Amino acid sequence: MNKGMVYDNIVLIGFMGSGKTSVGKTLARKLYKDFVDVDTVIEKEQGCSITEIFATKGEAYFRSLEQKCINQLTEKKGQIIATGGGVPIHSTISEKSLIVYIDADFDVIVERLPARERAKRPLFDDEERARALYEERKDIYKELATFSVDANQVIPTFIHVIVDYVLDQRVL
Ligand code: S3P
Repeated sequence: MNKGMVYDNIVLIGFMGSGKTSVGKTLARKLYKDFVDVDTVIEKEQGCSITEIFATKGEAYFRSLEQKCINQLTEKKGQIIATGGGVPIHSTISEKSLIVYIDADFDVIVERLPARERAKRPLFDDEERARALYEERKDIYKELATFSVDANQVIPTFIHVIVDYVLDQRVL
């Protein structure tokens, strides 16, 4: 990816609970783009929650839904797309996406994630397993990202860093 690249969409990646959805909504408002969330699209299409999909059909099936969903979404342009934490690990994301890594430390994520939000995430059932998953994934997120933002502070303090970066790029 280089400076002359024209990106179709902005795709937010990062671990569960790092704030992708909240960042995405704010970013979309500030940049006058549409906001879409992969998990929400899947839940709507399937008519049930992510937890239910994991429980009844299994993780592999959920991963196939994610790949299909991100493919369909990136056929369009001009959107801010929030992904589930496993999307960049298990799926391929269109090369025409400006990928922003919402980079928060695991302890910050744990502090931010209320119990009701944890309950929606089957892979956060066990905190130590979630920590191991975080350690496994964090370098992959960084490598895949066009741009990483330190997300250890509250959103209003770092959102302008993303906005400035994006405005300096060409996104349809
Ligand atoms: C997952 C992250 C979740 C959701 C599913 C699996 C993961 O999304 O897609 O529970 O593998 O990291 P969030 O990142 O929005 O929590």
